[in-house]
Amino acid sequence: MQLHISHSMRSITISSNNGFTDLMKIKIAARHISYRTIFHTILILAFLLPFVFILTALVTLEGVNKCSSIDCLGRRLGPKLLGRGDDSERYLTDFYTILDQVHSEEIPDDLELPDNFKQLVSEMKNNKYNAKTFALTLKGMMERSEREIRESKFQELMNKHFAATSIPKGIHCLSLRLTDEYSSNAHARKQLPSPELLPLLSDNSYHHFVVFTDNILAASVVVSSAVRSSLRPEKIVFHVITDKKTYAGMHSWFALNPISPSIVEVKGVHQFDWLTRDNIPVLEAMENHDGVRNYYHGNHVAGANRSATSPRLFASKLQARSPKYMSLLNHLRIYLPELFPNLDKVVFLDDDIVIQRDLSPLWDIDLGGRVNGAVETCKGEDPWVMGKRFKIYFNFSHPRVAESLDPEECAWAFGMNIFDLRAWRKTNIRETYHSWLKENLKSNLTLWRLGTLPPALIAFRGYVHPIDPSWHMLGLGYQNNTSIESVKKAAVIHYNGQSKPWLEIGYEHLRPFWSKYVNYSNEFVKNCHILE
Ligand SMILES: *[C@@H]1O[C@H](CO)[C@@H](O)[C@H](O)[C@H]1NC(C)=O
Ligand SMILES: *[C@@H]1O[C@H](CO)[C@@H](O)[C@H](O)[C@H]1NC(C)=O
Ligand SMILES: *[C@@H]1O[C@H](CO)[C@@H](O)[C@H](O)[C@H]1NC(C)=O
Ligand SMILES: *[C@@H]1O[C@H](CO)[C@@H](O)[C@H](O)[C@H]1NC(C)=O
Ligand SMILES: *[C@@H]1O[C@H](CO)[C@@H](O)[C@H](O)[C@H]1NC(C)=O
Ligand SMILES: *[C@@H]1O[C@H](CO)[C@@H](O)[C@H](O)[C@H]1NC(C)=O
Repeated sequence: MQLHISHSMRSITISSNNGFTDLMKIKIAARHISYRTIFHTILILAFLLPFVFILTALVTLEGVNKCSSIDCLGRRLGPKLLGRGDDSERYLTDFYTILDQVHSEEIPDDLELPDNFKQLVSEMKNNKYNAKTFALTLKGMMERSEREIRESKFQELMNKHFAATSIPKGIHCLSLRLTDEYSSNAHARKQLPSPELLPLLSDNSYHHFVVFTDNILAASVVVSSAVRSSLRPEKIVFHVITDKKTYAGMHSWFALNPISPSIVEVKGVHQFDWLTRDNIPVLEAMENHDGVRNYYHGNHVAGANRSATSPRLFASKLQARSPKYMSLLNHLRIYLPELFPNLDKVVFLDDDIVIQRDLSPLWDIDLGGRVNGAVETCKGEDPWVMGKRFKIYFNFSHPRVAESLDPEECAWAFGMNIFDLRAWRKTNIRETYHSWLKENLKSNLTLWRLGTLPPALIAFRGYVHPIDPSWHMLGLGYQNNTSIESVKKAAVIHYNGQSKPWLEIGYEHLRPFWSKYVNYSNEFVKNCHILE
């Protein structure tokens, strides 16, 4: 076996004795070699070839590139590590024994670790280490660095989580000022829409859009992008549903910024007589369930055992705990047929989308008797955004899930859906949704983690009509590598994920597609310094 390190120190090759087969080739791409690069090299090697790992570490660190074989290295470095002797076979055996020992041994608490590799090398030259101490020290240093990298990764995730769940000052300001305006300005309180237009709210010859949100700026972008992209804006009726605390501000915004010829209705959840505890028992149960309370409102930092969690798992836990998944507004979509008893078809929109094309053709799609026209998320070029099957959303180790669902079934997305409410009313979708929610609560949230999609995936089984993916492009809130060309072509783009365009952590190059619908000349937007 031979170890070769190129003179430029950019690649390391390990080959068999006769030099014909390369067992392993590691390229170091960095322009100049850094300790970090060396680290990764060592880490990779450590997993594959413990023996070579030690030598490579030395060679790389010391900058010895005169030796190109283990024999040579053994002769040069062996005495330092193993004491006197010239039997290289024995070095090898000894090395393995030591490595085996070290591998299973804990790093002693009192072992002094050098601060960096430079120091390690210089201490080694001073014969400070025997082979075993050296191996332990190296192991300790690698573990420390791994820990540091993990810690900073966790820190980054925590910061991102708080950045994503806290309301930016500008948006908060907008809400406060508009609420204030509602009480002081009669124009802000005027009826929406004006009384003579009220019958249109339940007129099925119009195109009805529904958006549930407590974010006024986001609502304004959804509505104005829909209207500006429409070929027949006079056919559009928007139903904006918000919570009690946002109602006055939301109403002020649309009263002061009419988007004629389209029509906007603003409603607060408190204005629906139908939305009582009796009709939505599961929601009450969810709010009161101890497990849920702990789960969603517990101390995120203390609750997470960092040494037992991978950053990725931690990130998904953080996301699951985001208050958004508990909000009533978020679950309301499952009551669309009851909220709009006179409507036959509606297009449901999330508040983190932008409409870039006329959506009228959606009303002409034949859903073939199905309820939900949605984009499937298991097929497509981007394996990350479009690789979603049931196994991603559900815990298939749970017998209840395993016996009822197919892990390979294709998932679909909420965010832009055409719902046939007439067909929906003939089904028991809501009951199925309720009973699975209850079951998940009873099972202590072990069937699935994230909010509304998993129970909907179950409840809508057999009722989904796949529509063309270009109608609804997903992932702009978590996939930085989004193709700009596809973004330009999509009818609706969806910033699902943490990096919302109204947050600082939003992706800069994707933001303009959203911010071009923010009216920066509006005095409220100006005074609140939004996205400045
Ligand atoms: C965290 O997990 C590790 C490994 O599973 C375990 O040894 C440790 O006791 C746990 N710590 C806490 C605080 O639960
Ligand atoms: C539910 O989970 C929590 C923590 O995740 C645990 O403390 C509690 O004992 C569990 N309850 C049941 C009934 O398993
Ligand atoms: C999945 O279900 C199994 C069986 O009920 C349970 O032991 C496990 O904790 C669940 N996993 C999660 C992540 O909830
Ligand atoms: C996202 O991609 C853009 C260009 O493709 C790049 O400039 C930017 O640094 C990337 N941001 C992150 C957070 O990866
Ligand atoms: C970015 O996306 C393109 C095509 O969508 C893909 O070929 C490429 O590997 C991706 N790059 C990264 C870093 O994910
Ligand atoms: C922007 O807001 C100003 C002031 O409220 C208004 O006059 C103007 O029509 C708005 N522009 C658009 C494109 O909505």
